[in-house]
Amino acid sequence: MGEILKVAMPKGRIYKKASALFREAGLDIPLDVDDSRRLVVPIPELNMEFILAKPVDVPTYVEYGVADIGIVGKDVLLEEDRDVYELLDLGIARCRMSVIALPDWEPGIHQRVATKYPNVASQYFREQGQQVEVIKLNGSIELAPLIGLADRIVDMVETGQTLRDNGLVEMESIFEITSRLVANRVSYRMKNAEIQRVCDALQKVIGV
Ligand code: PRP
Repeated sequence: MGEILKVAMPKGRIYKKASALFREAGLDIPLDVDDSRRLVVPIPELNMEFILAKPVDVPTYVEYGVADIGIVGKDVLLEEDRDVYELLDLGIARCRMSVIALPDWEPGIHQRVATKYPNVASQYFREQGQQVEVIKLNGSIELAPLIGLADRIVDMVETGQTLRDNGLVEMESIFEITSRLVANRVSYRMKNAEIQRVCDALQKVIGV
């Protein structure tokens, strides 16, 4: 049956979408895995072991090869810039990375931008030729312009509800985000048959 495939799965809201996609693809994750608090979950039925990781850490586990493959958002892939092999766009957890501000925003002399994605934001403003100070936050980014920490933010927009509820507007969309299947480069060669099996199964149900 081949070697056990170690899969870094993102904990939280993407997990539900990812596990639903696996099941659609015929990769039947037992239901009790979904509610478990275990972080390393053997799934002998699939010859897999799930590693339940914080989404932002998935590329790190995969780069170091402690996970052979992983599921991670394009936002995290761009921010973390880890050496992993991107195999598939899974088309789930679709949203966008945007520049957001209060409606009356005007460019000032010293501009501050708050974000969970300092690398993505710095690169974007550099490319735009705009000099800004980037302030790293870890959540509730929309607070920053409301209470005067920053003029603008760079953050994910999914439904736009958070923006509307806080009286903020989307100034510009930077890129589209979906979850991706990534692989460790060595695992991709050493466990190619096992990884390809997962890829093929997922590919059949993507975007259906
Ligand atoms: C994310 C993101 C936005 C919100 C966008 O936050 O940072 O705040 O979701 O979704 P919406 O457009 O559908 O409202 P998350 O819930 O991950 O929490 P965070 O504040 O910890 O980033």
